[in-house]
Amino acid sequence: MSYNNIVFEKDTLFLVTGGAGFIGSNLCEAILNLGYKVRCLDDLSTGSQANVDLFINHPDYSFIKGDIKDLNTCLEACEGVDYVLNQAAWGSVPRSLKMPLYYCANNIVGTLNMLEAARQKKVKKFVYASSSSVYGDGAELPKKEGREGNLLSPYAVTKRTIEEWAKQYTMHYGLDTYGLRYFNVFGRRQNPDGAYAAVIPKFITQLLHGEIPTINGDGKQSRDFTYIENVIEANLKACTAPSSAAGQVFNIASGTREYLIDIYYGLTSALGVEVQPVFRPDRPGDIKHSNADISRAREMLGYDPDWSFEQGIKEAINWYKNNL
Ligand SMILES: NC(=O)c1ccc[n+]([C@@H]2O[C@H](COP(=O)([O-])OP(=O)(O)OC[C@H]3O[C@@H](n4cnc5c(N)ncnc54)[C@H](O)[C@@H]3O)[C@@H](O)[C@H]2O)c1
Repeated sequence: MSYNNIVFEKDTLFLVTGGAGFIGSNLCEAILNLGYKVRCLDDLSTGSQANVDLFINHPDYSFIKGDIKDLNTCLEACEGVDYVLNQAAWGSVPRSLKMPLYYCANNIVGTLNMLEAARQKKVKKFVYASSSSVYGDGAELPKKEGREGNLLSPYAVTKRTIEEWAKQYTMHYGLDTYGLRYFNVFGRRQNPDGAYAAVIPKFITQLLHGEIPTINGDGKQSRDFTYIENVIEANLKACTAPSSAAGQVFNIASGTREYLIDIYYGLTSALGVEVQPVFRPDRPGDIKHSNADISRAREMLGYDPDWSFEQGIKEAINWYKNNL
């Protein structure tokens, strides 16, 4: 894997907020595997205790159950930390349309607290999760940093806003911040349950359980699906990036595009089932097509994703088969 040869100083301590969630728990695992220390801060609002229990007996892992909406909790969590990987947030475009105030408090104020705590505790680098949703209705493909359209949901507003706050912390307070605009991440431990689950884990588990999946729209929408290993690589490379790249945002994706309907039939064939999906109307706030230009991350972070969609989906199917 292209992050195995990244070297940090002995006893380096990472803080992963949202470390009990899908992406965060995978970051914790990778850091432990590389031989460094990791502290996980999570309020378990959408993450799970099971993702903490996986590592709780590891001597280099510690867990704080706490909320990034509370500045004191963030200060405590940042004590002695070298690198922050800020993943804590609520995802989901449709849920954000129902709860705009909560999204503002959780995703914007929460991240602002983390930026402030990282600044006060003199953290070396602050890497944070942004999202491809910041491209809004911009029709241009591939999506390129600096060419954003009108934002289409409160969730997208929260991600765009934290990018601006992070830039302020680099500009005025010398905190090296790196915003990673993830594009549809998938892989082990992604939650398949509930109304707001992502399509890949949802389809796989529904098909494995003999249920009939639902596709919003005609299935001809496309996305840049990114395997979790590529996202881990991006986070760790950002920690080694030069200060000259700080204050910026980077597309983190595979740079390719998959159509939802093709994924669906690829999964039915891989799982050996013949089930026709039910089609529903498009969801408000969703965009039709999305794929990323990843050249900025390549050039400035040394990001070089080596997991293709096909390799990733095979691993994900196997994981869900063995863990349901
Ligand atoms: N999964 C994707 O495809 C994707 C795409 C773009 C951006 N992102 C972003 O990546 C990050 C991680 O997403 P994920 O898919 O792993 O989601 P997830 O829901 O699995 O993980 C988020 C974690 O953050 C925790 N959390 C939420 N609010 C918190 C708070 N106030 N204090 C402490 N912990 C809190 C949750 O309990 C959860 O464990 C999020 O910021 C998300 O917006 C994800």
